[in-house]
Amino acid sequence: MKINGKTKVCAIIGYPVDHSLSPVMHNAAFKDLGLNIVYVAFPVKTDMLKDAILGAKSFGLLGLNVTMPHKHSVIQYLDETESTTKSMGAVNTILNERGKLFGYNTDGKGAMIALQENHVDPEKKKMLLLGAGGAAKAIAFQAVQEKTELVILNRTQEKAKQLAKLLNKTFGTKVKGRSLLAEDLKEELETTDILVNATSVGMSPDVNASPVPAELIHSDLCVMDIVYNPLETKLLEDAKTAGATIVSGLEMLLYQGAVAFEIWTNCPAPVDVMKKAALSKLAEQGVRP
Ligand code: ATR
Repeated sequence: MKINGKTKVCAIIGYPVDHSLSPVMHNAAFKDLGLNIVYVAFPVKTDMLKDAILGAKSFGLLGLNVTMPHKHSVIQYLDETESTTKSMGAVNTILNERGKLFGYNTDGKGAMIALQENHVDPEKKKMLLLGAGGAAKAIAFQAVQEKTELVILNRTQEKAKQLAKLLNKTFGTKVKGRSLLAEDLKEELETTDILVNATSVGMSPDVNASPVPAELIHSDLCVMDIVYNPLETKLLEDAKTAGATIVSGLEMLLYQGAVAFEIWTNCPAPVDVMKKAALSKLAEQGVRP
């Protein structure tokens, strides 16, 4: 690509950011569409966040992705944030439109598109969401907006209940929060259509761990994991063996990026190009397929 006086800049800010797949994914997409935009990674520590956002404004950056630990604290520095994103309290994408910064969260949308792309329509289906951290929250907020019947299970049950309460208060839903203990898991799974692991269980190096005993997985399930290192987690391996539909964590990552790309460029994202770029970066990082 040719960098010149008109080149626009997008960036990811967080700490650390050096392993992020977003730069390769977005740069491949910009190149594919012949857009004069580059995407870089800026490591920004907590005490520099305000300055970084002011800098993004003064340099006229086109857009930002925001990752840990700034997803919540960045909101106070933005001009406007989507109302549901504000209630959720986490922004992962910022658009700079004529000097005003707008905050969005594309994580949940990414997860829902990943399901749809695998021919699973979450509307009116029962989703069992494992985890109550940041990723689970983003998925839960989007799932209820797409009229999915949601049950949240978490190791720390109180956190599942708190997230359910926040959702019910925000959307008037009847989401339940329970523990991740075997009896709760077994009871809920019997009537579940979509199982989503939004915990870190199964992530490298604990590749033999799974949040769900293999014998509880049935063939009518769609199982999505947000973990993408390894690409096929123990949970997904067990689900595949049981004859269930599987959706890898890479798909959620890919589609959250695709939604951000579309917010910045107004162009449909070339997802195949982005996926290929992400896969080759993962291979470079030694991630097990
Ligand atoms: P993220 O932003 O990636 O969601 P997080 O906010 O730290 O990260 O959340 C991690 C999630 O994984 C939590 O739901 C956590 O459960 P607790 O709330 O009980 O801590 C879950 N988790 C992490 N390790 C786990 C384990 N060994 N077994 C079960 N759940 C685990």
